[in-house]
Amino acid sequence: MSKYAKIEAAVIEERYARGWHCIGKGTDYGKEPVRLDYFGTRFVAYRGEDGQLIVLDGFCPHMGADLSEGYVEGNSLRCPMHSWRWGEDGVCDDIPYAKKIPSKACIKSWPILERNGLVYIYNDPEDNAPIPEQMPPVIEACSSDDWSDWQVVKMEIKTNVRELVDNMADKAHFGPVHGSAALKFENEFDRHIAIQRMEGKSPRLAGDAILKTVATYYGPAYMITEMSGEMNGVPVESKLLVAHIPTTTESFDLRFGVMVKLFPGMTKEQSDAMVKGYVDLAQEAFFEDVAYWHTKKRVDNPLLCDGDGPIYRLRQWYNQFYVDIADVPTMWNEPKHYTTDSVNPIPVQKSSAWPKGKQPVEA
Ligand code: FES
Ligand SMILES: [Fe+2]
Repeated sequence: MSKYAKIEAAVIEERYARGWHCIGKGTDYGKEPVRLDYFGTRFVAYRGEDGQLIVLDGFCPHMGADLSEGYVEGNSLRCPMHSWRWGEDGVCDDIPYAKKIPSKACIKSWPILERNGLVYIYNDPEDNAPIPEQMPPVIEACSSDDWSDWQVVKMEIKTNVRELVDNMADKAHFGPVHGSAALKFENEFDRHIAIQRMEGKSPRLAGDAILKTVATYYGPAYMITEMSGEMNGVPVESKLLVAHIPTTTESFDLRFGVMVKLFPGMTKEQSDAMVKGYVDLAQEAFFEDVAYWHTKKRVDNPLLCDGDGPIYRLRQWYNQFYVDIADVPTMWNEPKHYTTDSVNPIPVQKSSAWPKGKQPVEA
């Protein structure tokens, strides 16, 4: 047997997580059909005449045409190839040249939620209805004049989504990757929720103060971070959005958003400049993580030391979304709390190289 550590990485099964996945802002969608390539297949999204967002399977089961090239009629969508029309419930409601509509003429109408200025689609390989307690919670700040709007950038990451989720328990990367070693680090797992609490020095996001973050995953694909920092000596409260949706098992779209609490006593121009400055800094910090995902290898058996966070426990929590609901072992989603003491100074060797040609785009 070899004395050398060997990285294991099993072939990834083509199954996508059960749960809500963000597909952008509500304002991204109007009456024109939008093509969406996610979960290894295609969908089409459009707003019907009543303004409701509808997402249907994207390939017509008649002869396979791309429904995103079709036409919206009322709340239905007409296929461009032979004019079959699909209702908002996914049932074919018109075939102009047939006497009878086949009883199997039904495609999936995907569960949709519009909340917090964002749109979410619910994936479940078993096609069960969404689990009520797993809805993304309402964020009051999204409808408050005291906060900026979401500034969202979207990027495609060419790796499996587990690399992103691993970040939740990766205490040791804060120093080397972000130049802000964690002084306090905790993880908590409870049902569909995973939390990371972190305190650390971050001259970039907190000046001389301590940066405090509480990042919460609600289900497998939607994370909100509450962040308290400082800029130019002024305390800054912000919220970060990290939402992903797989395109395939080897790639995903990631939406990174920032909103900042507006600064009382400042003119609108001053406040706007502060918000923009802080959004840029938060994005810069996040892109340091992204740079690693483009080049690192998948590791099923990470070789951990006692100062690392609970990566294996996090993955167990995450696995609950990849098996049938009846097969989720209780131990995968029962409450657990981990504190990792940061007794060992973690070296700071900030590296912020952004791979050429991979820059994010405005979402
Ligand atoms: S392929 Fe859609 S109606 Fe024929
Ligand atoms: Fe990070």
